[in-house]
Amino acid sequence: MTSLPAPRANAYRDTWCGNLRAQDAGVEQRVAGWVHRRRDHGGLIFLDLRDRTGLLQVVIDPQEAGPEIFKAAERLRSEHVISVGGVLELRGGEHVNPNLPTGEVELRTTSLTVLAEADTPPFPVDEETPVGEEIRLRHRAVDIRREGMREALILRSKIVAAMRDHLTSQGFLEVETPTLTRSTPEGARDFLVPSRNQPGSFYALPQSPQLFKQLLMMGGLERYYQVARCFRDEDLRADRQPEFTQLDIEMSFVTEDEVIGEIETLMTKVFEAGGVKVQPAPWPRLDYDESMLKYGNDRPDLRYGLEIRDISEVIAGSEFKVFESVLAGGGVVRAINAGQREFPRKELDGLNELAQRHGGKAVAWAFVQDDGTWRSPIAKFLGEERTTAANAVLEAGPGDLLLFVGDQAKTAAPVLGALRAYLANYFELIPADEHAITWVVDFPMFEYNDDEDRWDALHHPFTAPTGDLDDPGSLRSRAYDLVLDGSEIGGGSIRIHDPAVQSKVLEILGIDAEEAQDRFGFLLEALRYGTPPHGGIAFGIDRVAAICAGKPSIRDVIAFPKTATGGDPLTGAPDAVPPRQLKELGLARPGV
Ligand code: AMO
Repeated sequence: MTSLPAPRANAYRDTWCGNLRAQDAGVEQRVAGWVHRRRDHGGLIFLDLRDRTGLLQVVIDPQEAGPEIFKAAERLRSEHVISVGGVLELRGGEHVNPNLPTGEVELRTTSLTVLAEADTPPFPVDEETPVGEEIRLRHRAVDIRREGMREALILRSKIVAAMRDHLTSQGFLEVETPTLTRSTPEGARDFLVPSRNQPGSFYALPQSPQLFKQLLMMGGLERYYQVARCFRDEDLRADRQPEFTQLDIEMSFVTEDEVIGEIETLMTKVFEAGGVKVQPAPWPRLDYDESMLKYGNDRPDLRYGLEIRDISEVIAGSEFKVFESVLAGGGVVRAINAGQREFPRKELDGLNELAQRHGGKAVAWAFVQDDGTWRSPIAKFLGEERTTAANAVLEAGPGDLLLFVGDQAKTAAPVLGALRAYLANYFELIPADEHAITWVVDFPMFEYNDDEDRWDALHHPFTAPTGDLDDPGSLRSRAYDLVLDGSEIGGGSIRIHDPAVQSKVLEILGIDAEEAQDRFGFLLEALRYGTPPHGGIAFGIDRVAAICAGKPSIRDVIAFPKTATGGDPLTGAPDAVPPRQLKELGLARPGV
């Protein structure tokens, strides 16, 4: 429960419900809030009165309050809004409620005003009653009264305040950038807004303030930040919303190490404010390649082991056709030692489905027996020499369960990454209340998109590359991501500040000079007027807040989030608009 500075005494109250303690007893107090619960007991009425700070017991005794107030109290129902005054008294002895911060005192009512009545709420304002998310979102004003939501929003506010306080103290300027703008290439689909003044033209909502923050560095502001709303029309998940909030940061005349150093100081304060204990900075830096190999993705969850190992070399040349053809085709065989664990046969077969969901084909398995040989459908094809060698690479001993994936590295990595996460959940290996943080660095600049037959930027096209620009596949980038508990909470880079390099990178991405001019001409031109070396980062505030609040979804730390289909059950958005509005915008009605 948070305490607040005393409210200004007014017609409704002169103190908060949740702030009253034994030392406040003996004097008149007035509080206001919602009737959380009413109990009638031996001719007395007991109320739990709730405001943002918590609960206070209010007693209405007809002897002290008089018959009229008692009558009014009898008509009170849950969620009615009232103001009550009276003397605060110690409860004493067995009446003390040790579970409530205000449990030593109660208000003996002498005045009562009903400020608003409430219909029966759609669900009880408590933490115990399970309520479907759709209903919670539809009645968000009631839902936010529940302790879990209220505390999550209070925590989020503290986290953002810590960000602002620290950055302001370090000379960062908060600058706002436009919401009605042009498309920015962060890899998602844009939300478009039709222009009434220029029929047929559209604004794009920003996927991030990336280009604007770079322009602010070209403008000489040196240190910028913004708590910025970003919009991305992508498939939604627990950690993705179509509109979300970034802490966006940019600095001039800096290298990676300086940005990383500044951010470690900042985020240490943010985690403190969020009540999350992470290891003291400097935080580890994991190479992208190592992360892909050992953890199967570039946002490794380091709270548990289950490292992936490559056994291609030691099992090569066997009779097992599947692995042999994978290896012959330039692929890999990798495995996880899941430790001494039971795993029902049916579940083992179910792992194939998991592999297929992530683009793979199957997962092979083996149990190591007491003599080191394998109980496994593939054991006889591999032969003892290879299984012994694989045991050594996997540090496997009797009773261990081994799981294998053979595929092209590009596929094997995500399949094993998903398998690793699945096993950690299945065997409950993720320690509660422990957090693991790491930087991921040394990313490839580009990734080949086989489907579209072209290069894609692994971060965004304004990230500075290192290496030979004539060999796109070999280029690395000066990017860094911050990963907490397997969630990418932030990502950034040193940027390109040389117009020629910028043009070349756009060209590699298949954006020719004309298109580059059309889409990013404003940036390319500004680059030519004297651009300092610069770099920055952006954090997903929703993700940071969700981890700090211990919530599984970012929807639980957003006051008014969207559902998985992008809808808002509260307002009914998105919705059809009247034909007149469409006409004004120069848009035809759908289907017309
Ligand atoms: P990036 O695209 O990595 O970088 O975004 C930065 C961080 O924003 C969060 N995030 C999201 N959170 C919720 N819902 C989403 N749909 C969503 N998408 C991203 C993640 C992510 O790490 N302009 C660059 C930053 C830079 O280079 O400085 C950018 O936007 O936590």
